Amino acid sequence: MCGIVGYIGNREAQSILISGLSKLEYRGYDSAGISVYNGKALQTAKKKGRLAVLEEQLQSNPLNGHIGIGHTRWATHGKPSDENAHPHSDNDHQFSIIHNGIIENYLSLKEELVAKGHVFKSETDTEVIAHLIQSLYEGDMEQAVQRAVKKMKGAYALVVLSKSEPDKLIAVRLASPLIVGVGQGENFIGSDIPAILEYTRNVYILNDGEMAVLTRNDVQLKDVEGNSISREIYHVDWDIVTAEKDGYDHFMLKEIHEQPKGYRDTMGSRIQSDQHKVDLKELTLSKQQIESIDRIHIVACGTAYHAGLVGKQVLESMTRIPVEVDVASEYRYRNPIITNNTLVIIVSQSGETADTLAALREAKSQGATILAITNVVGSSVTREADQVLITWAGPEIAVASTKAYTTQLITFYLLGCHFAEVLETKDEQFIAEVVSALQVLPEQVEMILSQAEDIKRYAEHIAQHDHVFFLGRGLDFAVAQEASLKLKEISYIHSEAYAAGELKHGTLALIEEGTPVVAIATQEDLFDKTVSNIQEVVARGADVLGLSTVGDEELVKSVNQLLFIPKTLPFLTPALSIIPLQLLSYYAAMARGTDVDKPRNLAKSVTVE
Ligand code: G6P
Repeated sequence: MCGIVGYIGNREAQSILISGLSKLEYRGYDSAGISVYNGKALQTAKKKGRLAVLEEQLQSNPLNGHIGIGHTRWATHGKPSDENAHPHSDNDHQFSIIHNGIIENYLSLKEELVAKGHVFKSETDTEVIAHLIQSLYEGDMEQAVQRAVKKMKGAYALVVLSKSEPDKLIAVRLASPLIVGVGQGENFIGSDIPAILEYTRNVYILNDGEMAVLTRNDVQLKDVEGNSISREIYHVDWDIVTAEKDGYDHFMLKEIHEQPKGYRDTMGSRIQSDQHKVDLKELTLSKQQIESIDRIHIVACGTAYHAGLVGKQVLESMTRIPVEVDVASEYRYRNPIITNNTLVIIVSQSGETADTLAALREAKSQGATILAITNVVGSSVTREADQVLITWAGPEIAVASTKAYTTQLITFYLLGCHFAEVLETKDEQFIAEVVSALQVLPEQVEMILSQAEDIKRYAEHIAQHDHVFFLGRGLDFAVAQEASLKLKEISYIHSEAYAAGELKHGTLALIEEGTPVVAIATQEDLFDKTVSNIQEVVARGADVLGLSTVGDEELVKSVNQLLFIPKTLPFLTPALSIIPLQLLSYYAAMARGTDVDKPRNLAKSVTVE
C-alpha cells in the first residue's frame, strides 16, 4: 500500500526520495510523486503509473534541494491520476504533504474549507489535510499540525513540509506505520524500514498519536499535545541484501527458495533437539493460564488467514480446544463471543494490516488474551498483543506471500506442541515424533524445489486456461485455498478452491472437457474419499494434476499428471504441499507475462480498512 519517504540533510533530496520509494515499490501503488524545497519555493512532480514514469520526467526537470518528501499512492479516494497523486498542497503552495491512510471526515472538513474559499484540485481526502493545516497556521508549523490532527478522524501517517519553515519536517501517525531514520547531519522518514536502510540502521518507531519533528541535526518525538517523549533507538540488524533480489528474477522466486532457511530460523532455539521438545521461551503464559483457555479465535487476512485455517486443525488436534478462524474484517463486526478465557491468535506478516489491528483491539477490549504471530519485530501488532511469536522469515517483499505463510505454519506446529505438552493432551513420544518430523522439513522443501522444471511445464499448460479448480479435503482443502489465492493474485487466472466432497453440490457443473483441476491428496485417512472425488471430475473430462505423498501410487491411475511431496506426518503436509503450488502460480504468471512481484490492484501491506 502507499509508501512514504522524507529527507532532510545536506545531500540532494531527489535521489534519496526516489531511491527510498523504489524500495517501497513492493507495497503496491499506482502513482508516485515528490516535493522538494529549492531555497525559494516548494516544487512538486507527480505522475500516474510506475516510479519510472516520474523518474523520466525528473531527468529533464530535476527538483534541486536538500529537504523533501516522496510518496507512492495506492488509490482509495479518487482514481489513479497525476492530480490525485501525492504530495498535495494548499492554494498558496505553502505546505506540501504526503499521507497514508484514510481521513473519514474529509467531506465535512472539505465543505468547511470550501466555504472559506479554498479551491481543491483533486478528489482525494489527503488534499483536505494540506488546506486544513494552512488554514490553522499561525506562524508555528508544529502547532498547526497538532491542531489539524485533532480535527481529523481516521487513520494517517502524515509528513508535512512547508516553505514557511523549510528547515524541518513534521511527521505524525495514527494507525498507519511510520518510522524515523536517524543519520549524522541528516534524518529520514519512512513508512517502512527498507525505505531508509541504505542510509541508516538507527530508527525510531512511532506509536499512535505521536509526532516527530526532524531538523538536519536533531529528531524530537512528541505527543500531539507537544509533550516530549523519550524513546530508545531501534537498531536494524538485518541486511539490505536480504531485501534485494540476489540474482533471482523476482522477489517471489527468491522468497520461495528462502523457505528452508525460514523453517530453520523459525524453529531455531525453540526446538530442543536433545530432548525432542519445543520450548517457546518468549511465551509468558503460565500453565494455569493455558489451562484456562476454553476457546481460541484465529483472526487474520489474506494468506495469513489461510495459515490460520491450517492452525485451527493443528491446534484442535493437539489440544482439543475448540478453534474458530475468522477473516479480520468480518470478525470485528460480527460480535464474536469473547470471554476472559478466550485466546485470540492474530496472524499477520506485516503486523500492520488495518483490519487485523482493529480486530485485535476489539478482542482485547472484550477481555481476550492476544497472542500475535507476526514477521515484523516492532510492528503495531507486536506492540499491542499480550504475547508475541515472531516468524523468522526475514523481510518479505513480493506482494504474494510465500515464506511468511509457511513460517506461520511452522509457528502453529510449535505452538501446538507447546500447548499439548503443557495440557498433557499428547504424550512425550508423539511430541518427539512431531519435533523430529519438523526438523527434516527444510531438507524436504529443498527436494521439492529441485523439481521446479516439472512444475513449470504444467504451469505453462494451465496458463493457457482461464479457470482452474483446486480440490482437497481436510488440511488439503486449507492448502487448496492458499494455492488458489496465489494463482489468482499473480497470474490473474480465475481459480476456485473446493472441499473435494462439496464439488458435486454445484460447482461440478463448471467442469468440462480439458478444465484444469489440481487435486491435493496427502491425507492418509481421507485418501480414498479424495480419489473418488477426483474420479468425478475425471469422468467429466477434467485435466487433473494430482499432488500426493511418495508412495500413494494409486493416484497415478486417476490423473493426467502427478507430483509427489516427500513423506511426513499427515498434519505436517501443508508445509510441503504448498511449495510446488507456489511454484505453479509463479510459473503460470511468468507464462502469462504478468508483473509477478507487483500484481495489479494489490498491495503488500493493507493499512486501510
Ligand atoms: C495483503 C497482502 C497479502 C497478505 C494480506 C494480509 O492483502 O497482499 O499477501 O496476506 O495483506 O497481510 P498481513 O501482513 O496482515 O499478513
